[in-house]
Amino acid sequence: MDNQTKQKLNLINWDFSDYNSAKYPLDLNSIHWYLATFPPMIPMYLISLLSKEGDLILDPFGGGGTTAIKAIELNRCFIYNDINPFAVDIVKSKIDILYSYFDCPNFLVNEDTLIERYLVDEQSVDEFILINNLDANIKSWYEIKTLSELCSIYNMIFSDRNANRIEESIRRCAFSSILKAVCSQTDHITYITDNCKPKKLVYKNARKQYLDQIRIIRLSVDDFYKRYISIFGSDESVKRNLDNSIVNSGDSRDMKWIKANSVDLIVTSPPYLCAQDYVKTMRLTHMFFPSEFMKEKLSLEIGARRKRGANAEKTVHEYYVDMECVIAEIARVLKVGKYFCLVLGQGSGRTTKAYDTVADISKLIQDKYGFTLEHEAQRNIWSRRIHLGGVSEESLLIFMKTDTGVHDNGR
Ligand SMILES: C[S@@+](CC[C@H](N)C(=O)[O-])C[C@H]1O[C@@H](n2cnc3c(N)ncnc32)[C@H](O)[C@@H]1O
Repeated sequence: MDNQTKQKLNLINWDFSDYNSAKYPLDLNSIHWYLATFPPMIPMYLISLLSKEGDLILDPFGGGGTTAIKAIELNRCFIYNDINPFAVDIVKSKIDILYSYFDCPNFLVNEDTLIERYLVDEQSVDEFILINNLDANIKSWYEIKTLSELCSIYNMIFSDRNANRIEESIRRCAFSSILKAVCSQTDHITYITDNCKPKKLVYKNARKQYLDQIRIIRLSVDDFYKRYISIFGSDESVKRNLDNSIVNSGDSRDMKWIKANSVDLIVTSPPYLCAQDYVKTMRLTHMFFPSEFMKEKLSLEIGARRKRGANAEKTVHEYYVDMECVIAEIARVLKVGKYFCLVLGQGSGRTTKAYDTVADISKLIQDKYGFTLEHEAQRNIWSRRIHLGGVSEESLLIFMKTDTGVHDNGR
C-alpha cells in the first residue's frame, strides 16, 4: 500500500460514534433496518481509497447491502452474498428502487386510495390470515386495528394487478420495514428474535407508517441520483453497473459461482461469534412472507447466537472451521495485489471470552492464505453495543493478497 493511502487511512476516526441510521432516513441504506450494519462511511472510505471506478467489489456477508449500495454510489459494480433470505429480499428491493428511477421515477403516488379499495376490517382479520396462509401467531404481536391495517396493505400489494414487478418489490420492502415499528413488543430486538411476545397489545398506525415509508423511499432514490449526478455528471453508468452486479442468496463458505482472481476489493463484516441470530431476527417479516428455506438457512448461519449455550470449545472450533472455508474462498476470488477489508469484533459472553477470535483469524489469513496485514484500526462501538450483541469494540483489518493463486483449489 502506498504511503499516501496509508496516511489517509490513518487520519480517519473509524468510530463514527454519532452515526445513527435513523438520522439519515433518506440514505437508501436506511430504508429498511438490519442488524449490525456498517455505518455507510466504512465501505465509502474503503471503496474510495482501495479501488477505482468500474471495479468489482465483493461482500460475502452482505447483510442489508451497505457495501453494495455504496459501490453503486461510487460508480463500481458489486457482488452481494448472504445466507439470510430476508436480507437478500431487502437488498433486491433496494436495487429495484434504483432501477425504478429509470422506469417509473414517480412511483406509487396513490397508495392511500388503493389501500382504501382493499380494506380488511377487524372482523375479517382471522379469515384473511387463514385464506392467505399467514402465520396465526401474528395476532400475538399486533393490536387488532393495527393488524387490520397491515392486512389491508398486504391485500393491496397482492391484489393490485396494475403494479409491475418493481412496484410490488418496493411495496413489499416498505411493508416489511414497518413491521417492527408497529408491533407491540417495544423491548430490544432480541425479544422478537427469541419469540418473546408483547405483554400488552397497543394500537400503532400502520397505514400512516407505510405511506410515510413510501414517501421516504421516493425521496431517497431522488436524493441518490442528485448526489450521483453532481459527482459523475450523468446517470448513464448506474444502470450498466447494476446490470453487471449480482445479488446472491448463498453460503459464503462455497462461492464457486464466482470466478477465481476476478474481484478487485472485498469489504465485509462476518457474524461475530455467538452475537446474533440474523435469520430469526426477521421473525415478523417471516410471518407475513414465509420462506420455505428458513430452516435450511438457519442451520447454515455462521457463529449464531443460539449456539452460545453449547460446549465452548466445540462452538469456537466450528466457528474457526467455518471462517477458514470463507477465507479460502476469499483468497481464491480476489486478484493478487488487491485488498480484503475485514471488520470483526470479539464475541461477548461466556462461550467466547477465553478466545481472541480476531487475533486468531487475522493470523490464519496471513500465515496460511498468503495475505499481508497492511492496516489495522480499532473501532469503539460502545454506543452501539446493544445492537451488536454486547460487543463494544471491533477491529478493522486491511489485508493485501500477495500470494498467487496457490489456494485456487483447482477452480
Ligand atoms: C454483521 S452482518 C453483515 C452486515 C453488513 N455489513 C451490513 O452493513 O448490512 C453478518 C451477515 O452474515 C450473514 N451470514 C451468516 N452466516 C452466513 C453464511 N454461512 N453465508 C453467508 N452469509 C452469512 C448474516 O445473515 C448477516 O447478514
